[in-house]
Amino acid sequence: MTSYKDLGLVNTKEMFKKAVDGGYAIPAYNFNNMEQLQAIIQACVETKSPVILQVSKGARDYANINLLRNMAKGATEYAKELGFEIPITLHLDHGDSFETCKECIDNGFSSVMIDGSHFPYEENVALTKKVVEYAHAHDVTVEGELGILAGIEDDVVAEESTYTQPEEVVDFVSKTGVDSLAISIGTSHGANKFKPAQCTKNTDGVLIPPPLRFDILKEIEKELPGFPIVLHGSSSVPMKYVNEIIEFGGDLKDSVGIPSSQLREAATSAVCKINIDSDGRLAMTAAIRKHLAENPGDFDPRKYLAPARAELKVMYMDKNINVLGSANKA
Ligand code: G3H
Ligand code: 13P
Ligand code: ZN
Repeated sequence: MTSYKDLGLVNTKEMFKKAVDGGYAIPAYNFNNMEQLQAIIQACVETKSPVILQVSKGARDYANINLLRNMAKGATEYAKELGFEIPITLHLDHGDSFETCKECIDNGFSSVMIDGSHFPYEENVALTKKVVEYAHAHDVTVEGELGILAGIEDDVVAEESTYTQPEEVVDFVSKTGVDSLAISIGTSHGANKFKPAQCTKNTDGVLIPPPLRFDILKEIEKELPGFPIVLHGSSSVPMKYVNEIIEFGGDLKDSVGIPSSQLREAATSAVCKINIDSDGRLAMTAAIRKHLAENPGDFDPRKYLAPARAELKVMYMDKNINVLGSANKA
């Protein structure tokens, strides 16, 4: 058993309280490797932002839980070495069972998500409650979810979003004891968040997605005043990266994300955690493709991973400062 407290990590309690009171959102960035983690920490230290490091099931399968846990410990020491101590949470993204959540808690995670959103309501309540009981006994915070995002979520593929029903949220939160709630108001995972038919086109031919359902968010906020709300699937899918990937030989079609202005609006409301993974993937891939196309003789991974890491850092800094509003809140 490793306690997150021995790794220099914190749970989300204090972070979320400050974010709700201060009208900003904490960045929740997924990581799978050293370069992504370095970029996240460098960006968050430089902008003086708290951060949630997210580990998905895919990341665990790819990188190993022991390595990831020790990388997070290293990240807390690295942040101090860079000159500014920031609050860092190690969070399980989309936990799929009690056993997965327990394993992460026992391995030093300070926060877990139990995603029972695709189960019938009462099953979701029972599973989430069981995770909360174990987690809270170890001072670990828990994120639950109500509503289903369109696209792929946990191997479950949904054609369309099932929006969170505001009339369920009070019952769910009081029965389960969760510390935060992920909701479905029109975001979705990946780089193709909407079908072209759902979008309009601007004069440059860029797809403009339908707006998020801020009306539902407002209803939820009314039901649960001051309670931390989480948005998944919140990458913006910047055209700069999409176009660069295509220019240098990649194959992306109809990519569309959530406009930054809408995320900015969400961050000033009850939304206090915003999940971003795909944008990091796009930034890294664009930089690597560009570097290799321009330097075909390079075969040392450091040559193409260094510019990818630098681009990631720029992107994360921009999000903290201009989208989430988490800069200078550490
Ligand atoms: O919510 C999903 C995340 O983007 C993680 O994706 O399971 O491919 O690591 P992954
Ligand atoms: P994106 O695919 O929009 O980056 O969402 C990531 C996410 O929600 C991780 O849980
Ligand atoms: Zn997610």
